[in-house]
Amino acid sequence: MIVLGIESSCDETAAAVVADGNRVIASIVASQVEIHHPYGGVVPELASRRHVEVIVSVVDQALAEAGLDPSRIDAVAVTQGPGLVGALLVGFSFAKAYAYALEKPWVGVNHLEGHINSVFLASDPPAFPFVALLASGGHTSLYYVTDPIRAELMGQTRDDAAGEAFDKVAKLLGLGYPGGRIIGQMAEKGIPGRIVFPRPYLDRNGFDFSFSGLKSAVRRHVQVYLKDDPDTVPDIAAEFQEAVVDVLTDKLIRGARHKKCDQIALVGGVAANQRLRERLLAEAAREGLAVHIPPVDLCQDNAAMIAAVGYHYLQAGFRGDLTDDVYSRTRI
Ligand code: KG4
Ligand code: ZN
Repeated sequence: MIVLGIESSCDETAAAVVADGNRVIASIVASQVEIHHPYGGVVPELASRRHVEVIVSVVDQALAEAGLDPSRIDAVAVTQGPGLVGALLVGFSFAKAYAYALEKPWVGVNHLEGHINSVFLASDPPAFPFVALLASGGHTSLYYVTDPIRAELMGQTRDDAAGEAFDKVAKLLGLGYPGGRIIGQMAEKGIPGRIVFPRPYLDRNGFDFSFSGLKSAVRRHVQVYLKDDPDTVPDIAAEFQEAVVDVLTDKLIRGARHKKCDQIALVGGVAANQRLRERLLAEAAREGLAVHIPPVDLCQDNAAMIAAVGYHYLQAGFRGDLTDDVYSRTRI
């Protein structure tokens, strides 16, 4: 079954063609970074307008890269939520109209389930069940995944998401947007531990997260010390990153132990972080856990993961209805 996936929940307009939920034939991602860069974050109205401008050409490019006429696709899968409502509506309305015109089935899917399913697009997919950490700009959640469309939420952030903390700390340090990648690069030039920030474990045995206290600790440090010591930016970035990596690694490995599960997955935009990937691989190896982390382009928002999860919903008989609407917030 060939599924056309469409994603427009935030600041990426994406389309992909995926066969049988696991083989990427084409994947196009049009980033809006340059539009939002001057504002230091995503401006929802500008995001929606840009999606409108590029959605047709992004879908056309994906089909052209796949070498397929639109009539050859079997179904359409589109992100229904969570995300920015105006942005979601562009992809969702487009997908409805496109599927209707082609007389093909379509289904609306959850963006977070898309991230979880991104591991099945990589060369060594996990076996069920596995424990997955989704760390992105909007979410930091731990799931026990029992099949492609079933996941039990074990814990989640009580305040900021991990990616959001990266973005806010980059802003505090005057490093610009988007912050995750920039902090990662800056951290390579610094040494963690020269400055000490707290590790927000909350209840050490629980699976909830909290990153706003860590962000506040960085802010206080920047306000008090950075003026006199401007060369410490790399050390601040390195220690902040290390604190986040410590907590994410610890909770994911504890989650696997708690569920007596020997497979773990790391997904979402923050999974692009090199230090996190390295640390998780090293610590999981010590614990005898098999780690599954998609390649970087599948960690960040893309439409291949939407087509992947859509495939399973379509196979299970789910179909979208023209009266369906998008949603901004949800839990799986
Ligand atoms: O999954 P994603 O592309 O979009 C959401 O669904 O939120 O994740 C974006 C988030 C941003 O907060 C970004 O700063 C973070 O992922 N990110 C990173 C890295 N690359 C992107 N965080 C840490 N290190 C990175 N290399
Ligand atoms: Zn995402």
